[in-house]
Amino acid sequence: MDRDNLLVVQNKLAPISRQAATEGIVLLKNDQAVLPVKQGDNLAIFGRCQLDTYRSGTGSGGAVNVRYSISIIEGLLGNEKVHINEEIARQYREWVKANPFDDGGGGWAAEPWYQEEMLLTDESVERASSQSNKAMFIIGRTAGEDQDNADAPGSYKMTDIEMEMLVKVTRYFDDVIVVMNTTNIMDMSWLVTMENRNAIKAVLYCWAAGMEGGHALADVISGDVSPSGKLTDTIAYDLCDYPSSANFGGTGYNCYAEDVYVGYRYFETFKPNSVQFEFGFGLSYTTFKQELTDFDIAGQGKNAVVRMSIKVTNVGDCYRGKDVVQIYLEAPQGRLGKSARTLVGFKKTSPLEPSESETLHISIPVRDLASYDDSGVTGNKSCYVLEEGNYRFHVGSSVRDTVELLHMYHVSKLLVTEECQEALAPLRPFERIKPKAQAQSVSPYGVEFEPVPTRSVSLHERIESKLPREFEVTGDLGFKLLDVSLGRATMEQFVAQLSLSQLATLVRGEGMCSPKVTPGTAAAFGGVSNELVDFGIPVIAAADGPSGIRMDSGHKATQVPIGTLLGCTWNSDLNEELFYWVGEELRAYQIDTLLGPGVNIHRHPLNGRNFEYFSEDPFITGTLAAAQVKGLKKAGVTGTLKHFAANDQETGRMDVDSVMSERAIREVHIKPFEMAVKSGGATTIMTCYNPVNGHWGASNYDLNTSVLREEWGFKGIVMTDWWAKMNHPSEAGSEDKIHTSYMIRSQNDLYMVVDNDGAASNVAGDDTLQAIEQGTLTLGELQRSAMNICWFILDTPAMKRPVVRYEPVKAIRSFNEYLGNDAVALEALSTLEMSKTTSCVVEVIEGATYQVSALMSYAKPSLAQSSCALSLNDEFCMSLSVHGTEGERISIEGSQMRLEKGFYHLCIDFVKAGATLHELNFSPC
Ligand code: BGC
Repeated sequence: MDRDNLLVVQNKLAPISRQAATEGIVLLKNDQAVLPVKQGDNLAIFGRCQLDTYRSGTGSGGAVNVRYSISIIEGLLGNEKVHINEEIARQYREWVKANPFDDGGGGWAAEPWYQEEMLLTDESVERASSQSNKAMFIIGRTAGEDQDNADAPGSYKMTDIEMEMLVKVTRYFDDVIVVMNTTNIMDMSWLVTMENRNAIKAVLYCWAAGMEGGHALADVISGDVSPSGKLTDTIAYDLCDYPSSANFGGTGYNCYAEDVYVGYRYFETFKPNSVQFEFGFGLSYTTFKQELTDFDIAGQGKNAVVRMSIKVTNVGDCYRGKDVVQIYLEAPQGRLGKSARTLVGFKKTSPLEPSESETLHISIPVRDLASYDDSGVTGNKSCYVLEEGNYRFHVGSSVRDTVELLHMYHVSKLLVTEECQEALAPLRPFERIKPKAQAQSVSPYGVEFEPVPTRSVSLHERIESKLPREFEVTGDLGFKLLDVSLGRATMEQFVAQLSLSQLATLVRGEGMCSPKVTPGTAAAFGGVSNELVDFGIPVIAAADGPSGIRMDSGHKATQVPIGTLLGCTWNSDLNEELFYWVGEELRAYQIDTLLGPGVNIHRHPLNGRNFEYFSEDPFITGTLAAAQVKGLKKAGVTGTLKHFAANDQETGRMDVDSVMSERAIREVHIKPFEMAVKSGGATTIMTCYNPVNGHWGASNYDLNTSVLREEWGFKGIVMTDWWAKMNHPSEAGSEDKIHTSYMIRSQNDLYMVVDNDGAASNVAGDDTLQAIEQGTLTLGELQRSAMNICWFILDTPAMKRPVVRYEPVKAIRSFNEYLGNDAVALEALSTLEMSKTTSCVVEVIEGATYQVSALMSYAKPSLAQSSCALSLNDEFCMSLSVHGTEGERISIEGSQMRLEKGFYHLCIDFVKAGATLHELNFSPC
C-alpha cells in the first residue's frame, strides 16, 4: 500500500464527494423562500439524526470504515452563515449520549430501520420558538441488504412519535424545514393531510450522503450552493399505486406484470393523479429558462441522430445555480404500446450566475428511441423497432414540467434498428399491462392486459450448437501470462498449458478477507494457488462497493454518497470524476475492481437495497453507471456492475424468481448493464442471487452468453454473487451451490467465493472436474472461462505488481518486558468466548512459526457476513471471516505467524460484528 499517495488521494476525494453530496440533495418544497437561511435567522434543530446522521445504508454496500464522518450538526456549526439554537442542540447531545444509537449489535441486517427519538414537550418547543425563528426537523431511515423496507411506521411510514413531534414543532414554528436523511424515498402523504401542514415551508431529501454529508447539507442550507438535485423516483401518494405493488415481496416468484411501465413510465401513462412529486423534480433557489436554439436530424435510417441545442439562462436575480435539461420521448403507441414519456436525454449546466446562459448540446441516436418486439406483433419478432408515426419530444426540468417541441422525428415506414434473438423469455405464462387503444393518443390511457410470449427456443440446442473449441492440454511450455501481451504466446497457447485442476482452481475466487490480497476485502481471484502464480498469473483483489471501499480489516477509506443520491445529481461528469478518485484510492490500496456500481432498477420503493442503485429509470441509471466505470478505468482499475439482473427485492433474494417479459428485461432491467458495457467499457459483471425466468443468474446462459457476449460484445469476466446457487442451464430445475459446471457452461466465469486458501483443494466440493469427466462440461468451456479471466487480468494494475507466491508466514516482533501481571498464555486463547472487540497481553513462551485457526459461529443464515481483525503490537495480522452458520461452530483457518518469545499486545477487533469467536488456536508448525 502506498500510504503517502493514499493520503493525497483521500484529500482530493473528500471535496468531490462533498460536491456530489451537495448536488444530489433534492429540494421538494420551498414556500416563501424559507431557504436558504437569511441573516438573523436562527434554526432550532429537532431529530436525533442531527448527531447520528446516516451516511449510508446497511450490508455490504454501506460498510466502509471511515476516517471521519461529518454529522448534520457538525456541518451546520461549521458554516458561518448558519446560526443554530444551542440550547436544543445541547439537549440532543445529552439525550443521545444517554440513549446511544442502536445498531442492533452491529451484526448483519440487524440494525433497525429507524432510531428512537427524544420526546418533545410543548414547553420545550415553545421555548425554542421564542429563541429561534425557524425549525429544522430531521427524519432518519436506513435499509439494506437482506432486509427490505416495510410498509409500516418506522420504515416507509413515519412513526407515531415522529408525527407527534412534527405536529408539535409545526404548532409553535411557522417556518419548518423537513430534512429527509434517508436511504430511500418515504411516504410523504402526510404533507397534505397533517394538521399545521402550512407551517412546513421546505422539504428536502439529503439522503445518506457519505462521510461529507453534514458539510453538503450545510452548503445548501446556507445558500453557499443552490440545490440542483432532481428526483430519480416518483413519489406517489400511496404505496399501493406503484405498479409493482401487487407483485412485490413474493416468496416463490414475482410476475413483473407492470412490464416496461416502471415508475414514471406507468404514472405518466396510466395514473398521473397518483403522483405527489414527479420524476425529475427538484427546486433551486433561482429559476431558469430553457429555449431550444437548434434541432436537426443527422444521418439516415437507423443510424440517424436527433440533435438539439438548448439554451439555459438563470433568470433569477440572487443566486447562482445549475439546471438540468431533461428530454422525454412520446413515441407513437403503434402495435406494441408505449409509455407516454420516456427519458431519452439529459444534461446539467455548469453553475450559472444570474442572467448567465449556457447552451447544452444533446444528441439522441434514433436507435435509442426503439422498442423491443418480443411477440412479433409488428411482424419483426426479436427485433428493436421504430413503429410508424411521430416521435415527439418534451423538454424541461421534470417529467411534468416540459414543453413539447414543434420539431419531431417522423417514421413513415416501420424501421428495424436491431435484430436480436429470442433470449430470456419466461417459461411461466402470465399477463402484462398495456395501454388500451383509444381514439386520441393522449394519456392517461386505460389499462389492458395481454398474455406475455413465453419461451419458444430450445436452450439445449442453442448451447450444444455453440460449444467452444477446445485446446489440447500441453502442460507447462514455459509461457507466462505476460507473454500473451508481449506477443510471445497466444492466449490459447497460454491457457492450454494449464491442467484440468489448475483450470478448475482458476474459476474459484477465495474470500472473504483473503490474506492473499489487501486485508478485509471481499475476494481474491486469479493467482490463488502457487501453481497459478508460477504461470505468472497475479492475484486480483475485489472489494465492495458501491459507495466506497469496504475493508473489514478496519483499514480506512472514503465513503461517498449512496447510489440514489448520485443518481439525483443528474451529473455524468461529476460521477466520472468522483469515481476516478475512488479508483485512485483503490489503486493505492492495491485493489483491482470495485464491486459496484449497483445498477438494478428501483422497481418498488420497498426494496431494501434501492439505496445502492440509482433510479427507477434505466436511461439515467445506465448513463451514470457508464460514467462511473469510465472514471474507475481512467484510474486504471475497474468497477463490477451488479446484480445482473433483476435482483429487485431482498426478501428471499436467493430464491425468488423474477418473472418478466423479454421486452421488460431488455428495455428496463438489463438496459443499464448494456449501456455501461457499450459506452462505459465495463469489463466485470456480478450476477444476481435470484433466478430470472427460471434460471438462476449465475447459470443463466442467455443472460451471460447470448445477450451479454453475443449481442453486446462484452469482453470481460462475469462473477457470481457471494456463495450463489446455480441450476441447470438448459433444463432449469432445482439449484445448489456446487454445480459450478452449470455456471461455466453459461459463461459465468468465476465462482465467488470458496473458503480462503481452499480453491486449489476444492474445499467447497464443486463439480467442475467431475462434470468434465462425465462429459456434461467440455474442456473448451472451462478454457473459455479461464481465457476470459486471464484477458481481464492482463488489463489490471496487478500485472504491474510483482507476481509472487503467497507467503503465509508473517513475522511480528515481541516486546520483551511487560510489567503487568495479567498476561495471558498463548495456549489459553483456545478457551475464549467473545463477540466484542477485546484486547489483552499474551505471552509467548516459545518462539516458533504458528498456524492460527479459530472456532467461530454466527447465528444467521448463510449469506450474512461477519469478521474480526487480529492485530499484534498494533500491526494488522489477519482477518477471520465467517458467513452465517445458523449458530453451528465451524473451524476457520487463519494465516501463519512467526512469533518470538516475549509479550504481544493482541487486539481482536470485531469490525463486522455478529459472530462469536469460541477458540483461537496458535499451533506450532
Ligand atoms: C452482496 C454483493 C456483495 C457481496 C460481497 C453479497 O452479499 O449481494 O453485492 O458485493 O456480498 O460482499
